[in-house]
Amino acid sequence: MSRITITVNGQTLVGNTHQPLLEQLEQAGLQPEFQCRNGVCGACRCKLQKGAVVQEDAMAYLAAGEILTCSSTPSQDVDVEFDYQVSFVARKAANL
Ligand code: FES
Repeated sequence: MSRITITVNGQTLVGNTHQPLLEQLEQAGLQPEFQCRNGVCGACRCKLQKGAVVQEDAMAYLAAGEILTCSSTPSQDVDVEFDYQVSFVARKAANL
């Protein structure tokens, strides 16, 4: 497992290269949108601004530069941007 940096809407947290991005964001205390958690609905879509992920096969439509956080795992430092404000479950849980 490699330790990486995940930047979400300009806020940085520590992540890894073995868990789906959605799980990592949730563990950091963030509440990104999701529904199916398996690449079908597209609710977890965001823009990959920098870095790279391993995107599993997915049914949801993706525009160029978009990823599904439920079914993609970072392979290096990433910078992602949601088109909405991602709130925190408990701010103290975030590793900022
Ligand atoms: S939560 Fe449905 S595609 Fe990710």
